[in-house]
Amino acid sequence: MVKLGLAALVATFLATLTFATVAGPGTADAAAPCKAKKIETKFLADACKAGGQKAAKDVMKKAMKDWKKKDASVSCASCHSKVGGDYPKKPNAMKDLTEKFGVK
Ligand code: HEC
Repeated sequence: MVKLGLAALVATFLATLTFATVAGPGTADAAAPCKAKKIETKFLADACKAGGQKAAKDVMKKAMKDWKKKDASVSCASCHSKVGGDYPKKPNAMKDLTEKFGVK
C-alpha cells in the first residue's frame, strides 16, 4: 500500500513535469507576439498575425536568401542593431527593406 502510494506520487510528479514542459516556455515563445507597436509591411504583418515573433523571424530568414542575391553582404545585423528581444531597427532598416529589396 505504501509502495502504491509512492508510485502514484511519482506518476503525478512526472505528469506535472510533462505538462509543464509542453505548456511551458516553448508554447509561450511560439505565441509571443511581435514587439513593434506598428508593423508597416504586409509581409511582416501577416507573419506576426499567423505565428507571432517566431514566424516573423522565420519569414525574415527565408526572405534574406533572396535579398542575398541582390546584396551578398546583407545580414540580420544590417538592419537590426540587436538580433533578439524587440529587434531594434537601424535607421536604414525600413528603407532597405522596402526600396532595396522591394518588400511590401
Ligand atoms: C533589409 C533590412 C532587414 C534585414 C536584413 C532584416 N530585417 Fe528584420 N526587420 C526589418 C524591418 C524594416 C522590420 C520592421 C518591418 C515592418 O514594420 O513591417 C523588421 C522586423 C523584424 C522582426 C519583428 C520584430 C518585432 O517583434 O516587432 C523580426 C523578428 C525580425 N525583423 C527578424 C529578423 C531576422 C532574424 C533577420 C535576419 C535573418 C532580419 N530580421 C533581417 C528589416 C530587416
